Amino acid sequence: MKTQAITANFQEANVDALAVTVFKDEKASGGGLKEFDKLTGGIISSVIKNEEFKGDVGETALIRFSAKGKVKASLLLLIGVGDKSDYKPASVAIVAGTATRFLRKRNVKSFALLPRNDGDPTEVAQNAAQGFVTSQFELDKYRTKDKNNKTVESLVVCVEGANAADLKNGLSRGQIIGDSMNFTRDLANEPPNILHPTEFAKRAQTIAKETGLKCEILDEAKMAKLGMGSLLSVSIGSDQPAKLIVLKYEPKKSTAKKGELLAIVGKGITFDTGGISLKPGEGMDAMKYDMSGGASVVGTMRAIGLLKPTVPVLGIVAAVENMPDGKATRPSDVVTASNGKTVEILNTDAEGRLVLADAVAYAEKQGATTIVDMATLTGAVIIALGDLNTGIMGNDQELVDNIIACGKETGEDFWQLPVSKAYSKQIKSDIADIKNIGPSRKAGTIMGAVFIQEFIDKAKWAHLDIAGTAWNDSEKPHQAKGPTAVAVRTLVKLVENSE
Ligand code: BES
Ligand code: ZN
Ligand code: MG
Repeated sequence: MKTQAITANFQEANVDALAVTVFKDEKASGGGLKEFDKLTGGIISSVIKNEEFKGDVGETALIRFSAKGKVKASLLLLIGVGDKSDYKPASVAIVAGTATRFLRKRNVKSFALLPRNDGDPTEVAQNAAQGFVTSQFELDKYRTKDKNNKTVESLVVCVEGANAADLKNGLSRGQIIGDSMNFTRDLANEPPNILHPTEFAKRAQTIAKETGLKCEILDEAKMAKLGMGSLLSVSIGSDQPAKLIVLKYEPKKSTAKKGELLAIVGKGITFDTGGISLKPGEGMDAMKYDMSGGASVVGTMRAIGLLKPTVPVLGIVAAVENMPDGKATRPSDVVTASNGKTVEILNTDAEGRLVLADAVAYAEKQGATTIVDMATLTGAVIIALGDLNTGIMGNDQELVDNIIACGKETGEDFWQLPVSKAYSKQIKSDIADIKNIGPSRKAGTIMGAVFIQEFIDKAKWAHLDIAGTAWNDSEKPHQAKGPTAVAVRTLVKLVENSE
């Protein structure tokens, strides 16, 4: 797939189709559409006048036209984006993706996009390229026939008046971020017999080599030595040995304040049966995605390795399989975590917090001063927020606000839930320091967060519960159904904003 930028003159673009953003109730005779309408023989004004196209969000219209040699393309795709005031640079990714999927189905191989956004041109181009790349990901890796073999091969992005170098930079950034998101989605989509913790670690090692990251894999013996009894209590029932994947990006010249280090930590449960607290059979297959937090960590680190920001980043994945077995942890077992805290395990299906406990403690031991963890942690967050918002909680309001703000820019939504001492009290155990579930089903998402918080010492910390947002149950105009690579874009932005 190729991307190319031009600053004006879309007439010159050697493409099959032109795709143009149209705002709600926009008049074709004025502003940005005027010249375009004229060149295409007044087609836009005629469909708008006849109310065949209103510019509503997600509306599309494909029109064949002839510009008598003035424009090379012969197809025009109008894409409605709704109100102009809601149209942000991040919306361009959705528009580009919608256009790509629409045209791909119709065997079109190339198109020029007129995104018509007056935001930062680099960012507009970046979003266009990212949307182009991520929209072509499909779930059919393991199909031997009926594969989706149609591809839109090239995208030309036209932003009038922009600097060509800025656009080029934006396109290459968008390609990196889009490829990294697809890398994450491929991991999340892998079946658990293929992507077990050992394979997860191998993939991380390979991508580290390709992108210049350091990579260390801690095996169970090493973790036992470090006292990670909480994490190991989850893997003990599985024949697949756990791996702690540690990726490190170090810039040539750092602009970070001395001693400051951001760590991103992911839950990497390659399959979650629930363990002895076995899940019901129906829908259990979905639990292959229980490593999505870890997948987003590795994808984000891939992007960081290639974008080369001037601040260091640590990426950690607790890759573990949760199985029932003769050796498996029982509800009522007590284990000791690496920070010395004792945990009474009352439900072996609340395993994500058990592996993250030792993983975040390890991140802090490695020098992290800010920790962001990502996990498909609770079914409760899906009940609370559905698939539209990631639940966010943390001990530092500035960090939480910062992540929410980065999400607003990248088009990912986060909604904060509270954590406080009163909630923490509810996970006090009768016989150990803490227990891994609350006293009832109340505030299930917060119970998970306050458990993890017990393993944060001094670091600023935010927890993202992505159980509802890591997987799309249905196809969208700009995106296949399945894994979403949630938070990759937002975390890249968080890192780059701290430069
Ligand atoms: N992986 C699940 C969370 C989950 C559940 C994600 C359903 C998507 C759909 C997690 O390990 C889990 O099982 N959590 C339990 C916690 C409970 C036992 C306190 C849950 O949410 O039911
Ligand atoms: Zn789980
Ligand atoms: Mg579980």
